[in-house]
Amino acid sequence: MEKLNPNYGGMQYNRCGNSGVLLPALSLGLWHNFGDTTPFEVSQAIARTAFEAGITHFDLANNYGPEPGAAERFMGKMIQADFKPHRDELFISTKAAYDMWDGPYGSWASRKHLMASLDQSLRRMNLDYVDLFYCHRYDPETPLEETLQALVDIVRAGKALYIGLSRWPLEAARQGYDYLKQQHVPCLIYQGRLNLFDRAPITERTLPDAMAHGAGFIAFSPLAQGLLTDRYLNGIPEDSRMARDGRFLHADALTEQRLQQIRRLNDIATERGESLASMALNWILHQKGVTSVLIGASSPEQLRKNLACLSSPPFTGKQLAAISKTLE
Ligand SMILES: NC(=O)c1ccc[n+]([C@@H]2O[C@H](COP(=O)([O-])OP(=O)(O)OC[C@H]3O[C@@H](n4cnc5c(N)ncnc54)[C@H](OP(=O)(O)O)[C@@H]3O)[C@@H](O)[C@H]2O)c1
Repeated sequence: MEKLNPNYGGMQYNRCGNSGVLLPALSLGLWHNFGDTTPFEVSQAIARTAFEAGITHFDLANNYGPEPGAAERFMGKMIQADFKPHRDELFISTKAAYDMWDGPYGSWASRKHLMASLDQSLRRMNLDYVDLFYCHRYDPETPLEETLQALVDIVRAGKALYIGLSRWPLEAARQGYDYLKQQHVPCLIYQGRLNLFDRAPITERTLPDAMAHGAGFIAFSPLAQGLLTDRYLNGIPEDSRMARDGRFLHADALTEQRLQQIRRLNDIATERGESLASMALNWILHQKGVTSVLIGASSPEQLRKNLACLSSPPFTGKQLAAISKTLE
């Protein structure tokens, strides 16, 4: 296998909040296509393509698979096969708090779960530390201070360099930013779902609030799991996420109204001289406070195509108005 040769000049890097860290405008998520049901060589080709394009940030979680843990095991193999000489060029994140193992400690955000889960993640990836460790969801049953102090202690123990919060409601996230700052382990980044069909981080203010607290923001599912591409314009292809793995993207998401919106957005993208995927990614990159857009890909070709968003033309007022009208 050829040596990796990342093209750092071809990627844009954005400062993450008030921190010293730069993250690539596009990051790669390993939620789908890196588990036991995907051949190692296919996942490896996607990861190699990403890194060669200057994508230094790879996002995982304890439960990414299938089966849970498989994506982290893939990363362990990938490090062995390709990434080991590049460890200091990579920014690897993982998360805990969703269901991972049986019994009372296998989920949510107690100190017990977070500490044990991260130790398991490090073993699966064969790493001494991760660059970023997230609490994957807010746990209303665990005292906030217990969760936050566990995150602080994880950094102090050298098992993660930075802390992130994912999907936390606004008020809890605010308390999190304040607590972490007081402990001198400021929250690096907030991870939330943001795409043309789901603008909750803007309307519910978790995006501007992260920025106001000096944290970066990374947008997950930026293509609404593939809906914001040309994938479903003419039916449901057999090799698509919706057909292969209906766990998180169901066919009932494709209502006639949704399809009409996708067609109209596709027309606007065509008028702009780009693909719908590229326009959808570029729209997120233009939102104030967004550090990085966390994409998924089932092939190296998809990933290469999506890189086009980095050189998309700026939006005109007329185009933005047409997009808003489509989404009404
Ligand atoms: N914090 C959280 O709770 C949370 C939740 C969800 C995700 N995430 C993170 O966000 C990452 C990305 O999420 P996501 O995979 O839902 O992102 P996404 O970018 O919205 O969807 C990716 C999928 O869209 C399709 N696609 C991508 N580019 C395409 C193109 N050019 N043409 C046609 N289809 C294309 C592919 O599906 P096909 O299989 O159909 O080809 C691909 O797997 C995850 O890996 C994870 O790291 C975090």
